[in-house]
Amino acid sequence: MADSLARTIPASGVAERASTAGSLLPLVLDQVCYSPHGKPVLQDINLELAHGLRTVILGPNGAGKSLLLRLCHGLIEPTKGRISWAGQSTAAAANRQGMVFQRPVLLRRKVAENIAHALAAKGVRRRDREALVRASLEQAGLTHLAERPARTLSGGEQQRLTIARACVCDPDVLLLDEPSASLDPAAARAVEELVVRIHAAGTRIIMTTHDIAQARRLAEEVIFLHHGRLLEHSPADEFFSAPRDPAAARFIRGELID
Ligand SMILES: Nc1ncnc2c1ncn2[C@@H]1O[C@H](COP(=O)(O)OP(=O)(O)O)[C@@H](O)[C@H]1O
Ligand SMILES: [Mg+2]
Repeated sequence: MADSLARTIPASGVAERASTAGSLLPLVLDQVCYSPHGKPVLQDINLELAHGLRTVILGPNGAGKSLLLRLCHGLIEPTKGRISWAGQSTAAAANRQGMVFQRPVLLRRKVAENIAHALAAKGVRRRDREALVRASLEQAGLTHLAERPARTLSGGEQQRLTIARACVCDPDVLLLDEPSASLDPAAARAVEELVVRIHAAGTRIIMTTHDIAQARRLAEEVIFLHHGRLLEHSPADEFFSAPRDPAAARFIRGELID
């Protein structure tokens, strides 16, 4: 049943793009189910991500987007099925990934120190850290805030710092869970621009959102989730112009879906 619903992109339909993430791809989910306390919240997810595209996992609240991202990062284990990154386990692949949650979690330290701490945790030598911190702050547009206590930044600035910190060790893949859900439109745009810059620099992006407008701006391919099922996986232009799944079509039109 789920197999007939889940549609994958034909290999010929997507332009191949050079990506440093090649070593971690493909990400393959094979019959993945997640049923905490016996209640199925993700069912029969089959998915293969093989290209250097920006992937957006789209769906209404409660669809299972956050859980799917956590499963892929190895924070939780599937109840059934398998997940692999280029044949490796999620645990083995996790240290070449950055993960950013909806709410920033920053240290009670200065902005620059938050990034330096991430480098130290990865074993980067002290004398190499300064230049990396500087480049990271510049990429995120936070250079002028380097000496401010991180927790005094605005919500948007904190989220950009969280993303910068997740990327300072140059991960192959960056996983973002609704990174701008609680931000105003201008702050959300600044986060989106940072995500695009990180992707252009060669990091594979996999992010979730319930925001159709954001998905239109950022997605190169869309995975549509609803009620814990993967209903469509299509190139973004096809998804938004001619969605194949009826629930996806209603969601794109802004209708409530049940
Ligand atoms: N730890 C958990 N135990 C049981 N149910 C959960 C757990 N986490 C999330 N859920 C349920 O799984 C469903 C999907 O949650 P989630 O992945 O957070 O959705 P989304 O991110 O798409 O809004 C929701 O119905 C939620 O209540
Ligand atoms: Mg979520």
